[in-house]
Amino acid sequence: MISESNKALVNKELNKEESKKKLEEMKGNKSVEVNSWIVSDLELIGIGGFSPLEGFMGQDDYERVVDDMRLQDGTIWSIPITLPVREEIATTLDIGEEVALIGEDGVIYGTIEVKEKFTYDKEKEARLVYGTTDTNHPGVQKVYDKGNVYLGGPVTLLNRPNHGEFKEYYLDPSETRQMFADLGWKTVVGFQTRNPVHRAHEYIQKSALEVVDGLLLNPLVGETKSGDIPADVRMESYQTILQNYYPKNRTRLVIYPAAMRYAGPREAILHAIVRRNYGCTHFIVGRDHAGVGDYYGTYDAQELITQYEEELGIKIFTFEHAFYCSTCENMATAKTCPHDSSHHVHLSGTKVRELLRNGYRPPKEFSRPEVADVLIKGMKQV
Ligand code: ADX
Repeated sequence: MISESNKALVNKELNKEESKKKLEEMKGNKSVEVNSWIVSDLELIGIGGFSPLEGFMGQDDYERVVDDMRLQDGTIWSIPITLPVREEIATTLDIGEEVALIGEDGVIYGTIEVKEKFTYDKEKEARLVYGTTDTNHPGVQKVYDKGNVYLGGPVTLLNRPNHGEFKEYYLDPSETRQMFADLGWKTVVGFQTRNPVHRAHEYIQKSALEVVDGLLLNPLVGETKSGDIPADVRMESYQTILQNYYPKNRTRLVIYPAAMRYAGPREAILHAIVRRNYGCTHFIVGRDHAGVGDYYGTYDAQELITQYEEELGIKIFTFEHAFYCSTCENMATAKTCPHDSSHHVHLSGTKVRELLRNGYRPPKEFSRPEVADVLIKGMKQV
């Protein structure tokens, strides 16, 4: 059962009329330039994806999240959502003032009422949130690159980032909840991905779909590391696979406009909280969820998140590493296949990207040919 507090959605967005007025008022106020990562966090706070957060974290919330994965009031929360600025910027801002948040494209996306300015320990944030201080980890590198001062306080969302050609796949949590109700889905499994959907993804999604009413394919389309397949190419590949291989009345594609942290186990928890907010009743955590390189064990994310399932208010479907077995002639996991790995189709991400870049489809046991074709075409354009 989802508790009432887990159901409540924050709305920090002003309507068109109010936004216009606010933008006018803000003309004389100070502003801070923010990158696309911060804009996506602002957007997610504004639309309720990060409920119960109403702004960027103050020191008490931040420290408790880093130390024991809870907000100050005890609510489970695994990743700091913060607004970093450089010291020389922070000193120009006064506590209590409302500051405009301007994107790199010059658009005022929102405001923060600066309640706090505080410095933080980067080494500690990296170690506890990401499990490593190695700057080869893309999330850790970001921690070291950011400004040294965090601004904490409630935000207002005034403009949404442009989601361009994928606008129709962009729904707010209140809208996905309504959509599930309209579809008559009582149980919905959310699926996070930052990759094209390959056969292992499809297998675990459909295994879950055997026991719930609907599947929300919810790809992350915010900032990802270089080397990952760009979001627009992926979006086309998702539409293609859904069109060809998924039941239309049991599947929906909606984008998750966040930046990828690559924080493995802790990010799995954030991903689950957000999907609960979008109205999912179940969430898939497979092998090395939100991992990168060898920083996390294959099932670390599953081990961590299942300890908090009750209070997260969303059921976790854990899946073992899935593969195609050429002897079973089926997708399987070690739970369902008796053959050793010499029977299994295994391809590294690097190998797959190399094949695609050279215009070759990976084996159909790994990726649907229609998806491979979209990726080959997309890779040519990058
Ligand atoms: S992630 O960073 O978004 O987690 P990815 O898009 O590869 O990366 O994974 C999406 C989801 O599928 C995650 O829950 C991940 O654990 C799961 N997953 C990916 N590949 C496999 C696989 N071969 N077997 C089982 N689960 C997998």
